[in-house]
Amino acid sequence: MKALVHPTEATYDHIADAIADKGYCVLPQLLPANLNNALQQRVMNLDDEDFRRAGIGREQDFQLNNAIRRDETRWLTLDNKIDKTYLDQMAEFRLAINRRLFMGLFDYEAHYAHYAPGAFYKKHVDAFKGESNRVLTTVLYLNPEWREEDGGQLLIYAPGSDAVIETVNPNFGCFVIFLSEQFPHEVAKSYRDRYSIAGWFRLLDPLQAPLI
Ligand code: OGA
Ligand code: MN
Repeated sequence: MKALVHPTEATYDHIADAIADKGYCVLPQLLPANLNNALQQRVMNLDDEDFRRAGIGREQDFQLNNAIRRDETRWLTLDNKIDKTYLDQMAEFRLAINRRLFMGLFDYEAHYAHYAPGAFYKKHVDAFKGESNRVLTTVLYLNPEWREEDGGQLLIYAPGSDAVIETVNPNFGCFVIFLSEQFPHEVAKSYRDRYSIAGWFRLLDPLQAPLI
């Protein structure tokens, strides 16, 4: 891949201000086009067997799971060059946000997600207060030429409310960030194959940290 053009300091300022002011930020574009393209190629070329039906927390009940979410996921790993490029970008992002907001973000995990036609993810939060160290959610969308009637919109709700405050089409290159514990959200039923990368910045969990 050609050299990356990194997000500018002004872009990070804008994101940090939005997180501090309202808790979320929707950017039509964040990463360089060549990285978005490489990630799209990668996710489209993954085989069906590479994906796992996503689960919901500790819930083992397939029926319940099926009623809540229908996406398939696959974790990004450092041993793949393209995954690593994205994870490196998110490491830079993490440091840029920590410098501005002192959030103490410690690490990041991310998976590719595929919503086949008919798939959705009902209203949920990514982290429950005190139960998880996930603090900041990111979603990068990898769908060229998405149309309103393709569905699959991300709906973001006001904290503790049924009011939708943001409707996001999963357009190619669009990048969304929100506080994981604050914002219930859902993925409306998608009528087309829908590809994205969902990720979470986490705080250091002393119970999971290796003993040194
Ligand atoms: C999730 C999620 C949103 C999206 O994976 O937890 O809410 O728009 N994804 O893909
Ligand atoms: Mn979510």
